[in-house]
Amino acid sequence: MNILLLGSGGREHALAWKIKQSSLCKNLFITPGNAGTNLIGKNIDINYNDFNAQKEFCIANQINMVVVGPEEPLVNGIYDFYTNDVALKNIIVIAPSAKAAQLEGSKSFSKYFMQRHQIPTAAYKEFTKENFEEGKAYIQQHSLPIVLKADGLAAGKGVIICQTTAAALQSFEDMLLHQQFGSASNKVVIEEFLTGIEVSVFVITNGKDYQIIGHAKDYKKIGEGETGLNTGGMGCVTPVPFMDNLFMQKVTEKIIEPTIQGLYQEQLTYHGFLFFGLMNVNGEPYVIEYNCRMGDPETEVVMPRLTTDLVQLFLDIHHNQLGKTAINYQPDFFATVMAVSGGYPGDYKKNIPISFSTLNPQNDSIIFHAGTKKLHEQIVTNGGRVLTVTSHAPSIALAVEKSIQTLQTISFEGMYFRKDIGFEFI
Ligand code: AMP
Ligand code: GLY
Repeated sequence: MNILLLGSGGREHALAWKIKQSSLCKNLFITPGNAGTNLIGKNIDINYNDFNAQKEFCIANQINMVVVGPEEPLVNGIYDFYTNDVALKNIIVIAPSAKAAQLEGSKSFSKYFMQRHQIPTAAYKEFTKENFEEGKAYIQQHSLPIVLKADGLAAGKGVIICQTTAAALQSFEDMLLHQQFGSASNKVVIEEFLTGIEVSVFVITNGKDYQIIGHAKDYKKIGEGETGLNTGGMGCVTPVPFMDNLFMQKVTEKIIEPTIQGLYQEQLTYHGFLFFGLMNVNGEPYVIEYNCRMGDPETEVVMPRLTTDLVQLFLDIHHNQLGKTAINYQPDFFATVMAVSGGYPGDYKKNIPISFSTLNPQNDSIIFHAGTKKLHEQIVTNGGRVLTVTSHAPSIALAVEKSIQTLQTISFEGMYFRKDIGFEFI
């Protein structure tokens, strides 16, 4: 098959790496990709939201399958675009319909969905400009901390956790009256703060059946010991020690199954990844959010751990045969450690040359590129999160240590990474 993968981050490099291992994949194209994906397949300079440009490319290159990395094309209706187009309708698209992608695209939609299907999540209320005063009164009587969420996509920045009522009232006003997140904050969800440990669980589904393909714990803060500003993710580990049989059974029965049944009952077409962002609150799982895509950097540990052919799983989705192919994992622990640009998550420079030591690290780490590109035959930085190194070993500590050793063979001006990924399990 000829496969087109959309996206340009570490997630896409890891997906490309996994897809290319399948004997079912003949040619792999990535749009727009990064310097790493171009080593595996062929980068194509098309915006992942430009469906018309993709159409021409797909026809010219006899594309059989499209796999979508980021959320934006999903929410923008890529599934519906391809399946409603006579020239594209035979292409297998691994994505939810636009309607189903509202699980990620609208916090209000996902909260209602969870309420309808009795899926455990934080108690909440939603407000618009019309009931602004009511919202203020709601905040004033609410316990602290309190969580404010812009309804729509806000590039991962739309969630504000407030420690004081005054801060919450200010954020509420900024979001609703001053459009802090543009139209994404025309509606605001206010919810209770859940205390616990977060974990991400990943499934693939055809909207009726599902298979769990992995889980991971992501480290979101820039500083060691989970301190400082939020980032897109500084590292990940899998498997997570507290994800034992009992907890996984609760996740399956209370969260995954009612969610898939909800999709089916509501006839929400869904052929793709579903990411459950969960909070483990004293041994009970709650949904913090749904994402309709894989996580980044979670993919960079989930894909290397999975031994099952991913393209076969995509075909199983398409042929309504999910369950036919067994999910298998490597027995080790996997860790990934992300190297970021100096200044990230604030301002940072781009186009800084990256030097990869010619001395091969004495281990089997994998280097996944995130924000990189090729400039005059030199690989340079092209984003805040630059690259991530994944390693596996019989313990989390050893896996992290291997990744750090490999990172020490790579350098660019301002490079920074956390040395404590997985710290609470070591
Ligand atoms: P989201 O964009 O929904 O993933 O939220 C970003 C982050 O905010 C999550 O990964 C959590 O760390 C945190 N968060 C969101 N909702 C809550 C909540 N109700 N209680 C505690 N933390 C939350
Ligand atoms: N690592 C979290 C996410 O991809 O949303």
